[in-house]
Amino acid sequence: MKDRKDIVVSDEEMAVQKGYISAIRDALNREMRYCIVTLGCQMNAHDSETIAGMLDQMGMTPAESREQADLVLYNTCCVRENAENKALGNVIWLKELKALKPDLIIGVGGCMMQEEGMGEKVRKMYPFVDLAFGTHNMYRLPELLYRVICEKQRAIEITREDGGICEGLPVHRRNNFSAYINIMYGCNNYCSYCIVPYVRGRERSRDMDKIVEEAKALADSGVQEIMLLGQNVNSYMGGGAHFAELLYRLDQLDIPRVRFMTSHPKDISDELIACFGELHHLCKQLHLPVQAGNDRILSQMNRRYTREQYLDKVRALRAVCPEIGLTSDIIVGFPGETLEEFEDTVSLIDEVRYDAAYTFIYSPRPGTRAANMPDDTPMEEKSRRIQRLIEHQQRITTELCTRQIGRIEPVLVEEVSARDAQCVGGKTERGHMVNFAGEPSLIGRIVPVKITSAGKNTLRGEML
Ligand code: SAH
Ligand code: SF4
Ligand code: F3S
Repeated sequence: MKDRKDIVVSDEEMAVQKGYISAIRDALNREMRYCIVTLGCQMNAHDSETIAGMLDQMGMTPAESREQADLVLYNTCCVRENAENKALGNVIWLKELKALKPDLIIGVGGCMMQEEGMGEKVRKMYPFVDLAFGTHNMYRLPELLYRVICEKQRAIEITREDGGICEGLPVHRRNNFSAYINIMYGCNNYCSYCIVPYVRGRERSRDMDKIVEEAKALADSGVQEIMLLGQNVNSYMGGGAHFAELLYRLDQLDIPRVRFMTSHPKDISDELIACFGELHHLCKQLHLPVQAGNDRILSQMNRRYTREQYLDKVRALRAVCPEIGLTSDIIVGFPGETLEEFEDTVSLIDEVRYDAAYTFIYSPRPGTRAANMPDDTPMEEKSRRIQRLIEHQQRITTELCTRQIGRIEPVLVEEVSARDAQCVGGKTERGHMVNFAGEPSLIGRIVPVKITSAGKNTLRGEML
């Protein structure tokens, strides 16, 4: 195991990057507008907030759209092939924009860039990309941008070595009431289908005191909800402290809602389960991806739990917190999955009754173990299976929504409703979206709402 000193980027290195931020700010003699396009998961969304924080400090301002920007940065994902195709397609589209606007600076970062050979590919095949970086060296963006803006050079830099933890980077948060906090980086699980361990590196946990410090500052600024982020938060180990301990410390702060993602079922400890019965601020909601309901497939996926062990965890959670809302990720059409094995996933959905499930057709990822497994199920059959699963889950989601009618729920108001400007929308503690008549000034507040009706996936209510 690496020494903690080695997994935190040194103060000296951070100071060098700060120096480049100041140098760019001093050198910019024109307005420079940036647009960051984020693909992928919450981890990437939060990385984009950090990138925006750095660009703000350089004196740049956010643009309304890509077309109006002087700097466009793509923060990419590669978890499935279509995510990668989308990222590449978007980047190629920028080539045309650059033809109209030769001064446009184009940058690509994130998980896709961290894939084997991607740096070389971009260097050779996408000459219009000025700047590229991976997940491990994102904190070096100021230096790379300096090369592009001030030295008029291309800066393509991907490092293979796992990135260190950076403390003290500026963050431009998406809003002032709900905030992401990274608690760990990387993943050690190597589920056989998954590319994340290869592009995000080994597990590294942030120091508990640093996390609490960040959360406290957010509490002081009036934040109502924090979402703790990690690929597998249950194996958090910050200076010897476990995840449940971190949750207890955060429960002391004046933040009404604490959520986290993602939890690996094999690592859900009794202590963590107990948190759902004991902590005041922990929301009654858990994303607990099962991936499949059949033991042979789970073993092929290297998930390291059986269907029964998963169901045991669900029962234990419901014993301490009967109201808990569960959501899941499910992969359909894993190599060699038979129809009977797929039916086990359908029956598991029936047993658990998730509030929602995110379903994906298996996508082979180069370099992962499953990519070499024989897969003779035709795509049409996989499409039929996923369709069946989606319809099945939809019925359960709607039933569970209907059960909320008549309840009075605290709702954190997030936005003006997209469909009706007289309405606002927000989430219950359990994670259901509720729309109700209300003023935009309610955004960022937690208000009591009586649930009056249910749609397919969302609720309607009246503010009390
Ligand atoms: N660390 C998290 C999430 C990782 S990626 C976890 O373990 O839950 C998010 C989801 O994408 C996974 O839960 C999985 O359902 C899906 N996924 C990952 N790799 C995939 C692949 N190769 N094909 C299809 N879906 C995949
Ligand atoms: Fe991927 Fe598995 Fe790690 Fe999640 S736990 S990121 S699915 S390897
Ligand atoms: Fe995609 Fe990277 Fe997240 S591959 S799902 S953006 S960790």
